[in-house]
Amino acid sequence: MKISVIGTGYVGLVTGVCLASKGHQVICIDKQSEIVNKINNKMSPIYEPGLEDLLCKVIEKGNLAATTDLKSAVMNTDISIISVGTPFGDGKIDLSYIESAAQEIGNVLNEKKAYHVICVKSTVIPTTTDSLVKTILENTSGKKAGDFGLAMNPEFLREGKAVEDFMFPDRIVIGSYDQESFETMKKVYQDFFDAPIINVNLRTAEMIKYTANALLATLISYSNEVSVICEKVSCVDVKEVLEGVTLDKRFNPRVNNQLINPGMISYLRAGCGFGGSCFPKDVQALSAFSKEMGYSPSMIQATLEINEAQPYRLIERLHSILGTLENKKIVVLGLSFKPETDDIRESPSLAIIKGLLAKRAKVIGVDPIAIDNTKKHIPQNDSLTYSVDYKNALKDAEAAILVTPWPDYINISPQEFKELMKEPILVDGRRVFDKSSYEAAGVQYIGVGLT
Ligand SMILES: NC(=O)c1ccc[n+]([C@@H]2O[C@H](COP(=O)([O-])OP(=O)(O)OC[C@H]3O[C@@H](n4cnc5c(N)ncnc54)[C@H](O)[C@@H]3O)[C@@H](O)[C@H]2O)c1
Repeated sequence: MKISVIGTGYVGLVTGVCLASKGHQVICIDKQSEIVNKINNKMSPIYEPGLEDLLCKVIEKGNLAATTDLKSAVMNTDISIISVGTPFGDGKIDLSYIESAAQEIGNVLNEKKAYHVICVKSTVIPTTTDSLVKTILENTSGKKAGDFGLAMNPEFLREGKAVEDFMFPDRIVIGSYDQESFETMKKVYQDFFDAPIINVNLRTAEMIKYTANALLATLISYSNEVSVICEKVSCVDVKEVLEGVTLDKRFNPRVNNQLINPGMISYLRAGCGFGGSCFPKDVQALSAFSKEMGYSPSMIQATLEINEAQPYRLIERLHSILGTLENKKIVVLGLSFKPETDDIRESPSLAIIKGLLAKRAKVIGVDPIAIDNTKKHIPQNDSLTYSVDYKNALKDAEAAILVTPWPDYINISPQEFKELMKEPILVDGRRVFDKSSYEAAGVQYIGVGLT
Protein backbone atom coordinates (compact mmCIF):
# COMPACT_ATOMS: atom_id res chain seq x y z
CA MET A 1 0.00 0.00 0.00
CA LYS A 2 1.01 3.61 -0.34
CA ILE A 3 1.23 5.18 3.10
CA SER A 4 2.08 8.67 4.29
CA VAL A 5 3.20 9.07 7.91
CA ILE A 6 2.71 12.56 9.30
CA GLY A 7 5.09 13.44 12.13
CA THR A 8 8.36 11.56 12.00
CA GLY A 9 9.40 11.41 15.65
CA TYR A 10 9.88 8.21 17.66
CA VAL A 11 6.57 6.67 16.65
CA GLY A 12 6.30 8.05 13.12
CA LEU A 13 9.78 7.06 12.05
CA VAL A 14 9.58 3.57 13.52
CA THR A 15 6.12 3.10 11.96
CA GLY A 16 7.31 4.34 8.57
CA VAL A 17 10.49 2.28 8.51
CA CYS A 18 8.83 -0.93 9.75
CA LEU A 19 5.90 -0.65 7.34
CA ALA A 20 8.35 0.02 4.49
CA SER A 21 10.29 -3.09 5.49
CA LYS A 22 7.05 -5.06 5.03
CA GLY A 23 6.92 -3.89 1.41
CA HIS A 24 4.67 -0.83 1.67
CA GLN A 25 5.61 2.39 -0.15
CA VAL A 26 6.04 4.93 2.63
CA ILE A 27 6.47 8.70 2.60
CA CYS A 28 7.44 10.23 5.94
CA ILE A 29 6.47 13.85 6.46
CA ASP A 30 7.85 16.18 9.07
CA LYS A 31 7.74 19.92 9.55
CA GLN A 32 11.39 19.92 10.57
CA SER A 33 13.60 19.88 7.48
CA GLU A 34 16.63 18.65 9.51
CA ILE A 35 14.70 15.48 10.33
CA VAL A 36 13.70 15.01 6.71
CA ASN A 37 17.25 15.58 5.46
CA LYS A 38 18.71 13.15 7.95
CA ILE A 39 16.23 10.44 6.97
CA ASN A 40 16.90 10.92 3.25
CA ASN A 41 20.63 10.68 4.04
CA LYS A 42 19.97 7.34 5.76
CA MET A 43 20.65 8.72 9.22
CA SER A 44 18.16 8.16 12.01
CA PRO A 45 17.35 11.42 13.82
CA ILE A 46 16.75 9.42 17.01
CA TYR A 47 18.66 6.63 18.69
CA GLU A 48 16.75 3.38 18.65
CA PRO A 49 18.43 -0.04 18.37
CA GLY A 50 18.21 -1.49 14.85
CA LEU A 51 16.40 1.52 13.41
CA GLU A 52 19.19 3.05 11.36
CA ASP A 53 20.10 -0.27 9.71
CA LEU A 54 16.52 -0.87 8.71
CA LEU A 55 16.18 2.74 7.55
CA CYS A 56 19.18 2.29 5.22
CA LYS A 57 17.71 -0.91 3.80
CA VAL A 58 14.27 0.52 3.04
CA ILE A 59 15.68 3.68 1.49
CA GLU A 60 18.07 1.68 -0.69
CA LYS A 61 15.16 -0.52 -1.75
CA GLY A 62 13.19 2.59 -2.70
CA ASN A 63 10.40 1.87 -0.21
CA LEU A 64 10.77 4.98 1.93
CA ALA A 65 11.44 8.68 1.41
CA ALA A 66 10.94 11.73 3.59
CA THR A 67 9.61 15.15 2.72
CA THR A 68 8.22 18.34 4.19
CA ASP A 69 5.63 18.46 1.41
CA LEU A 70 2.47 17.06 3.01
CA LYS A 71 0.29 17.85 0.01
CA SER A 72 2.13 15.71 -2.51
CA ALA A 73 2.54 12.93 0.07
CA VAL A 74 -1.20 12.76 0.79
CA MET A 75 -2.05 13.06 -2.91
CA ASN A 76 0.19 10.11 -3.75
CA THR A 77 -0.78 7.72 -0.97
CA ASP A 78 -3.90 5.74 0.08
CA ILE A 79 -3.57 6.20 3.83
CA SER A 80 -2.22 8.93 6.08
CA ILE A 81 -1.08 7.91 9.54
CA ILE A 82 -0.97 10.83 11.97
CA SER A 83 1.78 10.41 14.55
CA VAL A 84 2.42 13.96 15.72
CA GLY A 85 3.08 14.77 19.36
CA THR A 86 0.27 15.12 21.92
CA PRO A 87 1.99 16.79 24.87
CA PHE A 88 0.35 17.71 28.16
CA GLY A 89 0.17 21.42 28.91
CA ASP A 90 -2.06 23.93 30.68
CA GLY A 91 -3.84 21.21 32.61
CA LYS A 92 -4.91 19.09 29.64
CA ILE A 93 -3.75 17.29 26.53
CA ASP A 94 -2.52 19.65 23.82
CA LEU A 95 -4.23 18.56 20.61
CA SER A 96 -3.00 21.49 18.52
CA TYR A 97 -0.58 19.34 16.47
CA ILE A 98 -3.39 16.88 15.74
CA GLU A 99 -5.66 19.75 14.72
CA SER A 100 -3.08 21.21 12.32
CA ALA A 101 -2.31 17.83 10.78
CA ALA A 102 -6.04 17.10 10.28
CA GLN A 103 -6.53 20.53 8.76
CA GLU A 104 -3.63 20.11 6.35
CA ILE A 105 -4.83 16.66 5.27
CA GLY A 106 -8.41 17.89 4.88
CA ASN A 107 -7.27 20.70 2.59
CA VAL A 108 -5.59 18.14 0.34
CA LEU A 109 -8.62 15.81 0.39
CA ASN A 110 -10.63 18.73 -0.91
CA GLU A 111 -8.70 18.36 -4.16
CA LYS A 112 -8.23 14.60 -4.09
CA LYS A 113 -10.77 12.35 -5.80
CA ALA A 114 -9.59 8.91 -4.71
CA TYR A 115 -10.67 7.28 -1.42
CA HIS A 116 -8.23 8.03 1.41
CA VAL A 117 -8.05 6.73 4.97
CA ILE A 118 -6.85 8.95 7.81
CA CYS A 119 -5.57 7.00 10.77
CA VAL A 120 -4.70 8.59 14.11
CA LYS A 121 -1.77 6.78 15.72
CA SER A 122 -0.91 9.49 18.23
CA THR A 123 -2.20 8.88 21.74
CA VAL A 124 -5.36 10.98 22.06
CA ILE A 125 -8.15 11.18 24.62
CA PRO A 126 -11.43 9.41 23.81
CA THR A 127 -13.66 11.30 21.35
CA THR A 128 -10.71 13.06 19.66
CA THR A 129 -10.90 11.04 16.44
CA ASP A 130 -14.67 10.81 16.03
CA SER A 131 -15.31 14.41 17.09
CA LEU A 132 -12.37 16.77 16.64
CA VAL A 133 -10.48 15.05 13.82
CA LYS A 134 -13.61 14.02 11.92
CA THR A 135 -15.12 17.53 12.14
CA ILE A 136 -11.93 19.22 10.97
CA LEU A 137 -11.55 16.78 8.08
CA GLU A 138 -15.17 17.26 7.03
CA ASN A 139 -15.00 21.04 7.25
CA THR A 140 -11.76 21.35 5.32
CA SER A 141 -12.34 18.65 2.71
CA GLY A 142 -15.99 19.43 2.00
CA LYS A 143 -16.61 15.66 2.22
CA LYS A 144 -18.41 13.48 4.76
CA ALA A 145 -16.78 10.73 6.81
CA GLY A 146 -17.45 7.62 4.80
CA ASP A 147 -16.33 9.42 1.63
CA PHE A 148 -12.99 9.19 3.35
CA GLY A 149 -12.02 6.53 5.89
CA LEU A 150 -11.20 7.16 9.55
CA ALA A 151 -9.29 4.94 11.93
CA MET A 152 -7.56 5.05 15.30
CA ASN A 153 -4.64 2.69 15.70
CA PRO A 154 -2.84 3.27 19.03
CA GLU A 155 0.83 2.43 19.26
CA PHE A 156 2.21 0.33 22.11
CA LEU A 157 5.93 0.32 21.26
CA ARG A 158 8.43 0.87 24.04
CA GLU A 159 11.38 3.15 23.37
CA GLY A 160 14.60 1.17 23.36
CA LYS A 161 12.72 -1.81 21.91
CA ALA A 162 10.67 0.13 19.39
CA VAL A 163 11.59 -1.78 16.23
CA GLU A 164 11.12 -5.17 17.86
CA ASP A 165 7.81 -4.10 19.42
CA PHE A 166 6.50 -2.74 16.15
CA MET A 167 7.54 -5.76 14.11
CA PHE A 168 6.22 -8.27 16.66
CA PRO A 169 3.24 -6.60 18.32
CA ASP A 170 1.22 -8.34 21.04
CA ARG A 171 -1.96 -7.05 19.45
CA ILE A 172 -3.02 -4.59 16.81
CA VAL A 173 -5.89 -2.39 17.92
CA ILE A 174 -7.85 -0.86 15.07
CA GLY A 175 -10.63 1.51 15.92
CA SER A 176 -12.61 2.22 12.78
CA TYR A 177 -15.36 4.56 11.68
CA ASP A 178 -16.77 2.03 9.23
CA GLN A 179 -16.07 -1.35 7.66
CA GLU A 180 -14.19 0.09 4.68
CA SER A 181 -11.77 1.95 6.97
CA PHE A 182 -11.17 -1.28 8.88
CA GLU A 183 -10.62 -3.37 5.74
CA THR A 184 -8.07 -0.83 4.49
CA MET A 185 -6.22 -0.77 7.81
CA LYS A 186 -6.13 -4.56 7.87
CA LYS A 187 -4.16 -4.48 4.61
CA VAL A 188 -1.53 -2.29 6.30
CA TYR A 189 -0.96 -5.05 8.84
CA GLN A 190 -1.54 -8.08 6.60
CA ASP A 191 2.05 -9.30 7.02
CA PHE A 192 2.05 -9.14 10.82
CA PHE A 193 1.00 -12.78 10.92
CA ASP A 194 0.88 -13.67 14.58
CA ALA A 195 -0.64 -10.56 16.07
CA PRO A 196 -4.34 -10.65 16.91
CA ILE A 197 -6.23 -7.72 15.41
CA ILE A 198 -8.85 -6.18 17.68
CA ASN A 199 -11.49 -4.18 15.84
CA VAL A 200 -13.34 -1.71 18.05
CA ASN A 201 -14.90 1.71 17.68
CA LEU A 202 -12.72 4.82 17.59
CA ARG A 203 -13.28 5.81 21.23
CA THR A 204 -12.58 2.36 22.56
CA ALA A 205 -9.27 2.26 20.68
CA GLU A 206 -8.33 5.59 22.27
CA MET A 207 -9.35 4.35 25.73
CA ILE A 208 -7.42 1.06 25.41
CA LYS A 209 -4.14 2.97 25.04
CA TYR A 210 -4.74 5.17 28.08
CA THR A 211 -5.95 2.31 30.22
CA ALA A 212 -2.86 0.26 29.38
CA ASN A 213 -0.45 3.08 30.22
CA ALA A 214 -2.27 4.13 33.39
CA LEU A 215 -2.31 0.54 34.64
CA LEU A 216 1.44 0.06 34.12
CA ALA A 217 2.19 3.43 35.71
CA THR A 218 -0.04 2.53 38.65
CA LEU A 219 1.87 -0.71 39.25
CA ILE A 220 5.07 1.34 39.46
CA SER A 221 3.58 3.90 41.84
CA TYR A 222 2.05 1.15 43.95
CA SER A 223 5.51 -0.43 44.30
CA ASN A 224 6.97 2.95 45.18
CA GLU A 225 4.29 3.58 47.78
CA VAL A 226 5.09 0.20 49.37
CA SER A 227 8.79 1.20 49.28
CA VAL A 228 8.04 4.25 51.42
CA ILE A 229 6.23 2.11 53.99
CA CYS A 230 9.16 -0.36 53.98
CA GLU A 231 11.59 2.50 54.63
CA LYS A 232 9.59 3.40 57.74
CA VAL A 233 9.98 -0.11 59.15
CA SER A 234 13.55 -1.17 59.76
CA CYS A 235 14.75 -4.47 58.31
CA VAL A 236 12.08 -4.73 55.62
CA ASP A 237 13.34 -4.65 52.05
CA VAL A 238 10.79 -3.72 49.38
CA LYS A 239 12.66 -5.88 46.87
CA GLU A 240 12.12 -9.01 48.95
CA VAL A 241 8.55 -7.98 49.68
CA LEU A 242 7.66 -7.58 46.00
CA GLU A 243 9.50 -10.76 45.05
CA GLY A 244 7.48 -12.58 47.67
CA VAL A 245 4.29 -11.10 46.24
CA THR A 246 5.00 -11.77 42.57
CA LEU A 247 5.86 -15.43 43.07
CA ASP A 248 2.11 -15.92 43.44
CA LYS A 249 1.05 -18.03 40.46
CA ARG A 250 -1.61 -15.47 39.59
CA PHE A 251 1.24 -13.06 38.79
CA ASN A 252 3.89 -15.50 37.71
CA PRO A 253 2.60 -18.90 36.61
CA ARG A 254 4.87 -21.91 36.14
CA VAL A 255 4.95 -23.79 32.86
CA ASN A 256 6.83 -27.12 32.95
CA ASN A 257 7.92 -26.12 36.43
CA GLN A 258 9.57 -22.96 35.10
CA LEU A 259 8.43 -19.49 36.11
CA ILE A 260 7.34 -17.62 33.00
CA ASN A 261 8.24 -14.19 34.47
CA PRO A 262 5.66 -12.11 32.61
CA GLY A 263 6.78 -8.61 31.64
CA MET A 264 4.15 -7.13 33.95
CA ILE A 265 6.27 -8.13 36.94
CA SER A 266 8.97 -5.71 35.86
CA TYR A 267 6.53 -2.89 36.68
CA LEU A 268 6.16 -4.20 40.24
CA ARG A 269 9.54 -2.87 41.30
CA ALA A 270 10.40 0.13 43.39
CA GLY A 271 12.70 2.82 42.03
CA CYS A 272 13.06 6.53 41.44
CA GLY A 273 9.80 6.81 39.52
CA PHE A 274 8.58 6.51 35.97
CA GLY A 275 9.38 8.95 33.20
CA GLY A 276 9.49 9.04 29.44
CA SER A 277 7.43 10.58 26.73
CA CYS A 278 4.30 8.56 27.52
CA PHE A 279 3.44 7.49 31.06
CA PRO A 280 3.57 10.91 32.78
CA LYS A 281 1.75 12.81 30.07
CA ASP A 282 -0.76 10.08 29.31
CA VAL A 283 -1.72 9.53 32.93
CA GLN A 284 -2.08 13.29 33.39
CA ALA A 285 -4.18 13.54 30.23
CA LEU A 286 -6.46 10.69 31.34
CA SER A 287 -6.91 12.28 34.74
CA ALA A 288 -7.71 15.69 33.25
CA PHE A 289 -10.10 14.13 30.73
CA SER A 290 -11.87 12.18 33.46
CA LYS A 291 -12.29 15.34 35.57
CA GLU A 292 -13.65 17.17 32.54
CA MET A 293 -16.20 14.37 32.20
CA GLY A 294 -17.24 14.92 35.83
CA TYR A 295 -15.32 12.18 37.63
CA SER A 296 -12.22 12.81 39.74
CA PRO A 297 -10.08 9.66 39.36
CA SER A 298 -8.46 9.32 42.78
CA MET A 299 -6.30 6.27 42.03
CA ILE A 300 -4.88 7.74 38.83
CA GLN A 301 -4.26 11.01 40.65
CA ALA A 302 -2.40 9.17 43.43
CA THR A 303 -0.27 7.40 40.80
CA LEU A 304 0.94 10.80 39.63
CA GLU A 305 1.48 12.26 43.09
CA ILE A 306 3.55 9.31 44.28
CA ASN A 307 5.63 9.49 41.12
CA GLU A 308 6.34 13.18 41.49
CA ALA A 309 7.50 12.77 45.08
CA GLN A 310 9.74 9.74 44.49
CA PRO A 311 12.89 11.43 43.07
CA TYR A 312 12.92 13.95 45.91
CA ARG A 313 12.79 11.19 48.53
CA LEU A 314 16.20 10.00 47.32
CA ILE A 315 17.62 13.49 47.60
CA GLU A 316 16.20 13.86 51.10
CA ARG A 317 17.80 10.62 52.22
CA LEU A 318 21.16 11.70 50.82
CA HIS A 319 20.73 15.10 52.43
CA SER A 320 20.07 13.58 55.83
CA ILE A 321 23.27 11.50 55.60
CA LEU A 322 25.53 14.30 54.40
CA GLY A 323 23.94 17.00 56.56
CA THR A 324 24.14 19.45 53.69
CA LEU A 325 24.45 19.07 49.93
CA GLU A 326 25.95 22.52 49.44
CA ASN A 327 29.10 22.27 47.29
CA LYS A 328 29.03 18.46 47.49
CA LYS A 329 30.07 16.82 44.25
CA ILE A 330 27.28 14.46 43.24
CA VAL A 331 27.20 12.30 40.13
CA VAL A 332 23.89 11.42 38.50
CA LEU A 333 24.47 8.12 36.72
CA GLY A 334 22.16 8.05 33.72
CA LEU A 335 20.00 10.77 32.21
CA SER A 336 17.68 9.03 29.74
CA PHE A 337 14.43 7.77 31.23
CA LYS A 338 15.58 4.23 30.57
CA PRO A 339 18.54 2.51 28.88
CA GLU A 340 18.84 2.16 25.09
CA THR A 341 17.26 5.51 24.34
CA ASP A 342 18.40 9.12 24.22
CA ASP A 343 14.92 10.30 25.21
CA ILE A 344 15.00 12.31 28.42
CA ARG A 345 11.41 13.55 28.39
CA GLU A 346 10.10 13.50 32.01
CA SER A 347 13.08 11.42 33.06
CA PRO A 348 13.51 11.23 36.86
CA SER A 349 17.06 12.46 36.22
CA LEU A 350 15.67 15.94 35.47
CA ALA A 351 13.86 16.16 38.82
CA ILE A 352 16.91 14.79 40.60
CA ILE A 353 19.29 17.27 38.97
CA LYS A 354 16.94 20.17 39.72
CA GLY A 355 16.47 18.98 43.31
CA LEU A 356 20.23 18.72 43.84
CA LEU A 357 20.87 22.14 42.32
CA ALA A 358 18.18 23.63 44.57
CA LYS A 359 20.23 22.32 47.49
CA ARG A 360 23.34 23.96 45.97
CA ALA A 361 25.16 20.74 45.15
CA LYS A 362 27.78 20.50 42.38
CA VAL A 363 26.24 18.06 39.95
CA ILE A 364 27.72 15.99 37.12
CA GLY A 365 25.20 14.33 34.81
CA VAL A 366 26.58 11.24 33.11
CA ASP A 367 25.11 9.38 30.16
CA PRO A 368 26.42 7.64 27.02
CA ILE A 369 23.94 9.22 24.56
CA ALA A 370 21.41 11.50 26.26
CA ILE A 371 23.57 14.51 27.23
CA ASP A 372 22.66 16.69 24.24
CA ASN A 373 18.95 16.24 24.88
CA THR A 374 19.36 16.91 28.60
CA LYS A 375 21.32 20.10 27.97
CA LYS A 376 18.34 21.45 26.03
CA HIS A 377 16.27 21.14 29.24
CA ILE A 378 18.89 22.02 31.83
CA PRO A 379 21.87 23.82 30.33
CA GLN A 380 25.33 23.42 31.78
CA ASN A 381 26.23 26.07 34.38
CA ASP A 382 28.70 26.69 37.23
CA SER A 383 27.03 24.01 39.34
CA LEU A 384 26.16 21.52 36.61
CA THR A 385 28.40 19.78 34.09
CA TYR A 386 27.90 16.75 31.89
CA SER A 387 30.20 13.92 30.95
CA VAL A 388 30.11 10.68 28.99
CA ASP A 389 33.02 9.41 31.07
CA TYR A 390 31.60 8.02 34.31
CA LYS A 391 35.03 7.14 35.71
CA ASN A 392 36.25 10.70 35.37
CA ALA A 393 33.00 12.04 36.82
CA LEU A 394 33.15 9.78 39.87
CA LYS A 395 36.69 10.88 40.78
CA ASP A 396 36.51 12.48 44.23
CA ALA A 397 32.72 12.68 44.17
CA GLU A 398 30.87 12.54 47.48
CA ALA A 399 27.92 10.55 46.18
CA ALA A 400 26.59 8.83 43.08
CA ILE A 401 22.91 8.38 42.33
CA LEU A 402 22.00 5.63 39.89
CA VAL A 403 19.03 6.78 37.82
CA THR A 404 19.30 4.93 34.48
CA PRO A 405 20.45 1.31 34.71
CA TRP A 406 22.77 1.44 31.67
CA PRO A 407 24.87 -1.78 31.67
CA ASP A 408 28.13 0.17 32.20
CA TYR A 409 26.78 1.74 35.37
CA ILE A 410 25.17 -1.28 36.98
CA ASN A 411 28.45 -3.12 36.47
CA ILE A 412 30.54 -0.61 38.42
CA SER A 413 32.12 -2.77 41.08
CA PRO A 414 32.32 -1.82 44.78
CA GLN A 415 36.11 -1.60 44.42
CA GLU A 416 35.79 0.84 41.51
CA PHE A 417 33.54 3.13 43.54
CA LYS A 418 35.95 2.89 46.44
CA GLU A 419 38.98 3.68 44.30
CA LEU A 420 37.40 6.60 42.46
CA MET A 421 35.43 8.31 45.22
CA LYS A 422 36.71 9.50 48.60
CA GLU A 423 34.14 8.02 50.91
CA PRO A 424 31.61 6.68 48.47
CA ILE A 425 27.91 6.97 49.03
CA LEU A 426 25.85 5.11 46.46
CA VAL A 427 22.17 5.91 46.06
CA ASP A 428 20.59 3.02 44.20
CA GLY A 429 17.55 4.50 42.48
CA ARG A 430 16.83 1.24 40.68
CA ARG A 431 17.69 -1.38 43.28
CA VAL A 432 20.23 -3.11 41.05
CA PHE A 433 23.27 -3.25 43.37
CA ASP A 434 23.73 -5.85 46.06
CA LYS A 435 23.79 -3.87 49.31
CA SER A 436 25.93 -6.27 51.34
CA SER A 437 28.78 -6.62 48.85
CA TYR A 438 29.00 -2.86 48.33
CA GLU A 439 28.90 -2.19 52.07
CA ALA A 440 31.55 -4.86 52.65
CA ALA A 441 33.85 -2.92 50.32
CA GLY A 442 33.27 0.33 52.23
CA VAL A 443 30.57 1.89 50.06
CA GLN A 444 27.72 3.48 52.00
CA TYR A 445 24.54 2.21 50.37
CA ILE A 446 21.14 3.89 50.16
CA GLY A 447 18.46 1.85 48.38
CA VAL A 448 14.85 2.70 47.59
CA GLY A 449 12.57 0.84 49.99
CA LEU A 450 15.30 -0.28 52.33
CA THR A 451 16.84 1.26 55.44
N1 LIG B 1 7.44 7.81 22.05
C1 LIG B 1 6.82 6.70 22.41
O1 LIG B 1 7.39 5.78 22.98
C2 LIG B 1 5.35 6.53 22.09
C3 LIG B 1 4.77 5.25 22.21
C4 LIG B 1 3.42 5.10 21.91
C5 LIG B 1 2.66 6.20 21.52
N2 LIG B 1 3.25 7.44 21.45
C6 LIG B 1 2.43 8.57 21.00
O2 LIG B 1 2.74 8.85 19.64
C7 LIG B 1 2.66 10.27 19.39
C8 LIG B 1 3.98 10.76 18.84
O3 LIG B 1 4.96 10.60 19.84
P1 LIG B 1 6.51 10.78 19.52
O4 LIG B 1 7.23 10.42 20.76
O5 LIG B 1 6.84 10.07 18.25
O6 LIG B 1 6.55 12.38 19.26
P2 LIG B 1 7.77 13.25 18.77
O7 LIG B 1 7.63 14.55 19.45
O8 LIG B 1 9.04 12.48 18.89
O9 LIG B 1 7.49 13.45 17.20
C9 LIG B 1 6.45 14.20 16.66
C10 LIG B 1 6.93 14.74 15.32
O10 LIG B 1 5.80 15.31 14.64
C11 LIG B 1 6.26 16.43 13.88
N3 LIG B 1 5.09 17.24 13.52
C12 LIG B 1 4.26 17.92 14.35
N4 LIG B 1 3.25 18.47 13.64
C13 LIG B 1 3.44 18.13 12.35
C14 LIG B 1 2.72 18.36 11.14
N5 LIG B 1 1.58 19.07 11.12
N6 LIG B 1 3.24 17.88 9.98
C15 LIG B 1 4.36 17.15 9.98
N7 LIG B 1 5.07 16.89 11.10
C16 LIG B 1 4.60 17.36 12.26
C17 LIG B 1 7.27 17.08 14.79
O11 LIG B 1 8.16 17.92 14.08
C18 LIG B 1 7.97 15.86 15.41
O12 LIG B 1 9.11 15.48 14.68
C19 LIG B 1 2.27 10.89 20.72
O13 LIG B 1 0.87 11.02 20.77
C20 LIG B 1 2.70 9.87 21.74
O14 LIG B 1 1.96 9.93 22.93
C21 LIG B 1 4.58 7.62 21.70
